[in-house]
Amino acid sequence: MSAVSPAPATAERPLVGSAPPSPAGPIEPGDAPELRPPPEVPLPRFRQVLAFSAREIEFVFRWRRELGEVFRFRGIIPGGPTITSHPDHVRSLFTADPEIVPSLTAESPLLPIVGPNSVLTANGPRHLRQRKLLLPPFHGEAIERYVAAITAIAEREIDSWPLNRPVALAPRMQAITLDVIASGILGTGGRARRGTPEHGLLETIKRLTALSTTPIAKLGELMNLGHREAVGLQRRALSILDHFTYGVIEQRRGDPDLEGREDILSLIMRARTDDGEALSDSEVRDELLTVILAGFETTANSLAWAWERLVRNPEAYEALREGVRSDEDAEGVVERVILETMRNRPVIPAIGRRVQVPWRLGDYRVEAGGPVTVSILLVHHREDVYPDPFAYRPERWIGRKPGTYEWIPFGGGTRRCLGASLAMAEQRVVLTAMARRLDIEAVDAEPERAQHRNVTMIPARGARVVIRSRRP
Ligand code: HEM
Repeated sequence: MSAVSPAPATAERPLVGSAPPSPAGPIEPGDAPELRPPPEVPLPRFRQVLAFSAREIEFVFRWRRELGEVFRFRGIIPGGPTITSHPDHVRSLFTADPEIVPSLTAESPLLPIVGPNSVLTANGPRHLRQRKLLLPPFHGEAIERYVAAITAIAEREIDSWPLNRPVALAPRMQAITLDVIASGILGTGGRARRGTPEHGLLETIKRLTALSTTPIAKLGELMNLGHREAVGLQRRALSILDHFTYGVIEQRRGDPDLEGREDILSLIMRARTDDGEALSDSEVRDELLTVILAGFETTANSLAWAWERLVRNPEAYEALREGVRSDEDAEGVVERVILETMRNRPVIPAIGRRVQVPWRLGDYRVEAGGPVTVSILLVHHREDVYPDPFAYRPERWIGRKPGTYEWIPFGGGTRRCLGASLAMAEQRVVLTAMARRLDIEAVDAEPERAQHRNVTMIPARGARVVIRSRRP
């Protein structure tokens, strides 16, 4: 994904366009006999698995170029997913009855960790129930309450960063997102205090994340493929995590102020279904780990990518710094940076559904039970939807709102990311504070490669920069 020198947007050549229509959706019995199975990647399965796991990005771009916008490959997902990158196909999956397009997260590597019943891994009525319970605490208005706390966390963190020597921003962003979790989700009123179960839980997560790219952790991950419950190393790591998680829950159940608390954990514990049912301790545990694990690395790396891109695109950086410092359209300029970063470097590059009935994707037919992967990365790099797709151009978004099926870093439909409002709020606050206070440069001109960690795509060197100066 190399940068291309910017060409100005003109009325004839806007920087956001549209795709030609392409029919998609369930096929009624006997309908559309002319549809063919999608073209397949013409390599032996083991080579596909290797190529995909080593270089997912190159793999999907290459085969889209050679086979078109719908193609099938044989990887580790049973059935061999069909990949699509057409917005109309995306719409067909996001707007369908969830019963006929269950999410592939039920088969994800997170399953042994968060269990089969969390909002991320459940499907059907169970998923809808969990989602309904969790929606209110993650609603945009509820998130507004945390903005002041996020600001204080970001400012404090920025104060501690070293000047004039290379720093990797990704771990610094993780520190911020972990403190936001401590404050907003666990309700610690700032950084978790040493010796508390909250501190133990967050420290364990931090350590396990740091370990997760090591060969031994990769081995642990491989051993767990296809398992519903953790085995081996992951099982041991999980028992430490559980010790602290249940500690947090037990303490909170005993808190005389539980009814008055505003943090997300307390809201989850107080939530009731329409029948008045509350979540059991093990359900609270699954949901708590889900929101923490789904939220902290994703947001941290999206912020890291923003800076990896900004320091290599001086015009975009200057526009951001100017906008924020002069307070002229500060909100607009920050929003455009977030939209363009999440388009150009979506932290989660793909999402999936398993169609329960035969499905049309343009000229092709996917059989019932087949997995369909939406490549967020490919949708976001369509030449027709985003002219000059590889260039980082926040000004694309001047006067434009992102399309529901064209800008999809948070997925969509009934599975759309539950933490999107929180992630957006964190990114706004942190980007604004950093652009206002810091002058940042790239350590080297070469863009950072994208590296894959579990389901995420992160900057390979952790977004290394030098901070030249800091304002009070
Ligand atoms: C920049 C940051 C983030 C990105 C890029 C992101 C992206 C995503 C994506 C792509 C999905 C799958 C959507 C689908 O299948 O259609 C998802 C689901 C989810 N995310 Fe996020 N996420 C982010 C931050 C967060 C945060 C901060 C939280 C919570 C604190 C969170 C909680 C969840 C949950 C619970 C789900 C499962 C929703 C469901 O299946 O109903 N995410 N996220």
